[in-house]
Amino acid sequence: MKIVVIGGTGLIGSKLVAKLREHGHEAIPASPNTGVNTITGEGLAEALKGAAVVVDVSNSPSWEDAAVMKFFETSTRNLLTQETAAGVGHHVALSVVGTDRMLTSGYFRAKLAQEDLIKGSSIPYSIVHATQFFEFAKGIADVSTTGNTVRLPHVLFQPMAAEDVASAVGKVATGTPVNGTVEVGGPERFRLDDFIREALAAMKDPREVIADPQATYYGVKMSERTLIPDDGAKLGTTRFADWLKQPGAKLVAAAH
Ligand SMILES: NC(=O)c1ccc[n+]([C@@H]2O[C@H](COP(=O)([O-])OP(=O)(O)OC[C@H]3O[C@@H](n4cnc5c(N)ncnc54)[C@H](OP(=O)(O)O)[C@@H]3O)[C@@H](O)[C@H]2O)c1
Repeated sequence: MKIVVIGGTGLIGSKLVAKLREHGHEAIPASPNTGVNTITGEGLAEALKGAAVVVDVSNSPSWEDAAVMKFFETSTRNLLTQETAAGVGHHVALSVVGTDRMLTSGYFRAKLAQEDLIKGSSIPYSIVHATQFFEFAKGIADVSTTGNTVRLPHVLFQPMAAEDVASAVGKVATGTPVNGTVEVGGPERFRLDDFIREALAAMKDPREVIADPQATYYGVKMSERTLIPDDGAKLGTTRFADWLKQPGAKLVAAAH
C-alpha cells in the first residue's frame, strides 16, 4: 500500500516511515526536506499520486497563536483538496489527548481547527489523540522554569514513548478508517511534577521542581484529568524507566 507520511522527516514521522516499510508498505516521507510543502503546495500532487492513505504527523514551525492557526488550517485544507483529487481513501492525523480541554492555548485551538476540517471533509478519516511524548520532558520543564525552579501542577500525566506513538499511528493507518478519534497513552500514570522531577534527575539537570496548583501547562490551567485519556485508550508498552536506559533515548527541548 502506498502511504504518504506528511511530516515524515520529523520525530514521529521518521519512526512511522521506518515501521511502515518494515511491514512491506511503500511509505513516502513528505516534507519540505523531501520537496513537499503542504503550505505552498509544492510537490504535493505528485507525492499523492496513487496513494491509498495519507498520514499527517507534521507540526507548525511556529507556535505563535496566529502562525500556528494559519499553518494547520492552510496545510489541512491543501491536503484534503489534493487528496480528494488523487482519490485517497483514508486521511489519518495525529493530535493530542485533551485538545478540546485546552482551548485557552492558540496551539490547541489550531489542532482543533485541523480536526474540524478533517471531520467536515468527505474523505474517510481517523484522528489519533496521543498523550505527551517522553522525549519532551525537557521542553515541558523549560517552559515552566523561572530561575532554577520549575513550577508545575500536581495533575495526572500519562506520557508515552515516541516509538509507541508511531506504532499506534501505523496500526491505525493500515486499518479501516474509524471516522472518529482513537486515544493512545502511556502504560503508567504519573503526576506531572513527579514525572518532570524524575526526568530532570535522569538528565542530571539541577533544577528544582515544585508542585504548584497555580502553575499552568503551556499557559493552560490544568484540572486533575485534563491530560489523560479516557478508559479504553490503547496503551503503549514502554515504561519510562526502561526508555531512559535505551541508548537512543533523547530528551529534546520542544513540545506539542
Ligand atoms: N508534543 C507532544 O507531546 C504531542 C502529543 C501528541 C501529539 N502531538 C502531535 O504530533 C505531531 C508530530 O509532532 P513531532 O514532534 O513528530 O513533529 P516534528 O518532529 O517537529 O516534525 C514536524 C514535521 O513537520 C514537517 N513540516 C513542517 N512544515 C511543513 C510543511 N509546510 N509541509 C509539510 N511538512 C511540514 C517537518 O518537515 P521538515 O523536516 O522538512 O522541516 C517535520 O517533518 C504534531 O502534530 C503534534 O501536534 C504532539
